[in-house]
Parts: sequence; C-alpha cells; structure tokens
Amino acid sequence: MTDQSTPQVFTRVLPLLKSAPEEPVFESGYLDLLGGHPEEPSGPIQSFWESGLGSGFYDHVQSFARRVSPAFYRLPARTHPPLGGRVLDIGCGPGNVTAALGRQVGSTGLAIGLDVSRPMLTRAARTETSDNVGFIRADARDLPFPDGTFDLVTSLAALQLIPSPDDVLAAACRVLAPGGWLAVMVPTPRGGLMHQAVRLVGDRAGLTFFGPDEVAEQLYASGMRTVHTHRAGPVLWISAQRSS
Ligand SMILES: C[S@@+](CC[C@H](N)C(=O)[O-])C[C@H]1O[C@@H](n2cnc3c(N)ncnc32)[C@H](O)[C@@H]1O
Repeated sequence: MTDQSTPQVFTRVLPLLKSAPEEPVFESGYLDLLGGHPEEPSGPIQSFWESGLGSGFYDHVQSFARRVSPAFYRLPARTHPPLGGRVLDIGCGPGNVTAALGRQVGSTGLAIGLDVSRPMLTRAARTETSDNVGFIRADARDLPFPDGTFDLVTSLAALQLIPSPDDVLAAACRVLAPGGWLAVMVPTPRGGLMHQAVRLVGDRAGLTFFGPDEVAEQLYASGMRTVHTHRAGPVLWISAQRSS
C-alpha cells in the first residue's frame, strides 16, 4: 500500500517485485526491502560506504572523478538502453548513474537503483528520485525481481565489494530480458605483478580485484553471449548480451 508521502515512482516499482511486501517500508524516500537486521558489511571499505561520513565522502570523490576522467565511467555505447526501457543499477551508491539512465530511457521508461547502504540510498533518494527513477534497499545477491524484467542491468564499482560476486552476476543475468544488456565496471590494476600485490591487500580489506577475463568467463558460464571486455585507465568494463 502506498500513501501520499510515497514517491510516485513506486506505483511503477512495486508491481515489478517478485513478491511485493504487504506493507512496504519507505525510509527517507527509498523502499527498504531488508528491514532492520542487515548482514555485517563485507569489510572496512564497505563499512565506510555504509556510514554517513563514508557516503558523503564517496559522493564528492565520485563527482570529482567523473568530471576529471569521464571516459573511465562511460557506459559502452552498445549497452545504451532503449527509450521506454527498464534499467536496474546494482550498487547504485548516491544514484547519479541511475538518474542519468532514467534520463536516457525517458518518462515512459524506468530506472531503479539498488543498494544495501542506508546513507547512500538516503542521498540518492533525496537528490535523484523522479517520476521514473526510484531507489530500493536490497542485496545484489538476491535481486527481488522476476526473470527477464530489465532491458539493461548496470553495476559500476560495486562488484568488487560483494562477497560471492558470481552470485551477483548470475542474478543480474537472470533478471535481464532476452536481448538485454549487462554493463559491469570494476577497478582493476594494470600489470600482472601489481595485480597480484593489490589482490593480496584486497583479500584483507574485503575487496576482490578481478583478473582481465574472470568476469567475462563467469558471464559465459551464466549463459550470456557476445561478451566484450575493455580497459579504460584503472577500470575494466565488461558488457554482455543475453541471448534473444
Ligand atoms: C563504490 S560504490 C559505487 C556506487 C555507484 N555505482 C557509482 O558508480 O558511483 C559501491 C556501492 O555498492 C554497494 N554495495 C556493496 N555491497 C552490496 C550488496 N551486497 N548489494 C547491493 N549493493 C552493495 C555499496 O553500498 C556502495 O554504495
């Protein structure tokens, strides 16, 4: 049930859920599907992103980094969603990518940002909610949508923070419509030695640093076709299309 304080966009989001809650909980403008007993953060970095200080810090850093190096953050052109399409942005953080996707799909389309961090979602909901952009609190490993719901699923700079990233990739593929695209961006240091060193540190910090082909291999294993990988500075982009 929604009331007048519920952002209008949720009248479009709730019917898409696998099982819509009888009494949906709206916190600071986002729909909370996890309630009050979240899992422990995966490590110190994720702990920081789940704090008010960390989410504010991240928001400033990402906005500066995107102004200075826009090419690193640009979605591969082939994945651009159709007008009127549905998009899911996994690990949306402060929601600026979700909002940009909302503008691309236009008013008849829908962009949903999903994250576990309350402070990130509070920022996202406050600044980016609109009639076709909404935010939900849910775990990327257990996406609350039926198979084939979205034309595009994105995940930028989030997969490295989530334990069992293979489960996230499999879930992302599951919710894609036939012919839909997945676009994933992960930080990846250049060079074999550097990669090994960072990987050791990452293990202690709850971060996964993926090898150049790891995500692509997992996507093939999840039944995706047409997998493309390219590096842009310190990040790796992987895009893949679900078979029609
Ligand atoms: C570095 S931020 C990236 C935010 C945004 N995608 C961007 O590019 O600016 C990573 C986000 O992933 C979220 N995250 C971590 N584990 C998650 C999980 N299990 N499910 C959903 N989101 C998660 C964090 O809370 C954080 O907001």
